[in-house]
Amino acid sequence: MQNGIGSMAYLAASALFILSLRGLSHPASARRGNLYGVAGMAIAVVTTLWLAGGAVLPVVAALMAIGVAGGALLARRVEMTQMPQLVAALHSFVGLAAVLVAFASYLSPAAGNAASFGGAGQSIHDVEIYLGVFIGAVTFTGSIVAFLKLQGTVGGKPLVLPMRHLLNLVGVLACVALGYLFLTAPEAAQGVGPLLTMTAIAALIGVHLVMAIGGADMPVVVSMLNSYSGWAAAATGFMLSNDLLIVTGALVGSSGAILSYIMCRAMNRKFLSVIFGGFGTVTTVAAAIEGEVVPVSVDEVGALLRDASEVVIVPGYGMAVAQAQTTISEITRKLRDKGVKVRFGIHPVAGRLPGHMNVLLAEARVPYDIVLEMDEINEDFSSTDVVLVIGANDIVNPAALEDAGSPIAGMPVLEVWKANTVIVSKRSMASGYAGVDNPLFYKENTRMLFGDAKHSVEALLAQLSA
Ligand code: TAP
Repeated sequence: MQNGIGSMAYLAASALFILSLRGLSHPASARRGNLYGVAGMAIAVVTTLWLAGGAVLPVVAALMAIGVAGGALLARRVEMTQMPQLVAALHSFVGLAAVLVAFASYLSPAAGNAASFGGAGQSIHDVEIYLGVFIGAVTFTGSIVAFLKLQGTVGGKPLVLPMRHLLNLVGVLACVALGYLFLTAPEAAQGVGPLLTMTAIAALIGVHLVMAIGGADMPVVVSMLNSYSGWAAAATGFMLSNDLLIVTGALVGSSGAILSYIMCRAMNRKFLSVIFGGFGTVTTVAAAIEGEVVPVSVDEVGALLRDASEVVIVPGYGMAVAQAQTTISEITRKLRDKGVKVRFGIHPVAGRLPGHMNVLLAEARVPYDIVLEMDEINEDFSSTDVVLVIGANDIVNPAALEDAGSPIAGMPVLEVWKANTVIVSKRSMASGYAGVDNPLFYKENTRMLFGDAKHSVEALLAQLSA
C-alpha cells in the first residue's frame, strides 16, 4: 500500500519535472516552469522521507539544515557573474554523491534496497554500482577542474599532453579490465580493490578531459558536465531502485546533452570532440587588424538614436557585469514611444550562462516579442540604422567569419557591422572571454562609447529624456 502511494507520488513528481522543463523553454512560461519544478521536488522529498520511515528523519533533518544554511549563504554571496563556477561546483557534488552512494551500496547492501538482490540481479546491481562510480568520479573531478578554470585559479589554456587520446583510451580500457575483476570477485572484500583503483583512474580521466579544453569552449563543457551529472544521478537511481531518481537523472542527462548540442552548433564545434575533450586546441595565427578607432560621445549617440527608425541592441557579458539592463529597458521604452523600432539580438552563448541575457532582459521587463535569437535577426542588420552593442565582444567579432586563422573561426556571430552605424559600449579596447582582438572596433561605421556600460546608458537615458 505504502509503496503504491509512493509510486503514484513519484509519477506525479516526474510529470511535474517534465512540465517544468517545458515551461523553462520560454521566458514567458519560465516562472510557471520553476513553480512546477519546486512542487515536483517538494513531492519527491516528502515522499522519499515518508517511505524511508521515521528512524532516518533526525539525521536527514540535521543534514538538510546544514545544506540549507550552506545554500542560503552561497546564494547571498555569489554574484550573477559567478554563476557558471557555481553551477560547475554543484555538478561536482552530484558526481561525488553518486560515488559515495555506490560505495555505500556495495559495502553495506542492507543500507539500500540492494538486500533483495541475488544471482543475476546481484550482477546487474554490481554493474550499476561500477558505472555509477565511473560516471560519478569523471563528473566529480571534471567539474572541479571546470570550476577552477572558470574561477581563473587554473589558466584557460588547454593542457595538451602528448598522445592524450591514447592516454584516455588506455584509462578507459584499464577501467573495463578492472570491471571484469570487480564483477568476478567472489566476495565484496575482494571487489573493493578494483573498484577503488577504477575510481582513481576515472578521477584522472575527468581531470584530463577538462584540462584539455580551451577557455573559450568552457560553456559547452559546463552543460556537458550537467549532462554527466544527470547520468550519474540516473545510475544512482538504478542502484537504489528509485524510479524517480532514474527519471530525473535521465531528464537532466538528456536535456544537458541537447543543450550541449545546441551550444556546439552555435559555436560551430563538433559534439563528439567535446565529449572526448581536446577542444580549442588548434594553434592559429590571427590576421593583423587595420583601421582606426573612433570614440563617440553620449550626445552624438543620443542624436543618432533619435534620428534612427530601426535600432537593434546587442547585449553581452559587460551588460551583466555593469547591471545595465534596467536602464537599457527604459531607453527602449523611450525610443519606442518616439516611434523607433527597437529589437534585441541575442547570441546563444552571450554572457556566461545559457539564457543569461534573456533572464536579465526579462528581469528588466523588456517585452519578449522584441527579443530575437541570432538566426532570427542576422538578416535584418543590413536594413538597421543603429546597432547598440552593450558590453559584448566575442559574439559580434567579424574575425569569426572573415579570418580563418582566428581562434574563434567558424563560430556564427551577430553580423552587426552590416548596419549603418554600430555603437560599442565598453570600458577599453580589451578583448572578451576568448581573448581575441575584435576588428569590429576598427571598422569605418563603428563608434566606440568608452566607459562603464551602466554609466554610459544612464547618461544616454538622461540625454534622450532631455
Ligand atoms: P565577452 O566576449 O566576454 O566580452 C565582454 C566585454 O564586456 C569585454 O570585452 C569587456 O570589455 C566588456 N565589459 C566588461 N565589463 C564591462 C562594464 N562594466 N561595462 C562595459 N563593458 C564591460 O562577452 P560576450 O560578447 O557576451 O561573449 C560571451 C563569451 O563568453 C563567448 O566567448 C562565450 O563563448 C563565452 N562564454 C559563454 C558562456 C555562455 S553559456 N553564455 C559561458 C562561459 C563562457 P572592457 O573590459 O573593455 O570593458
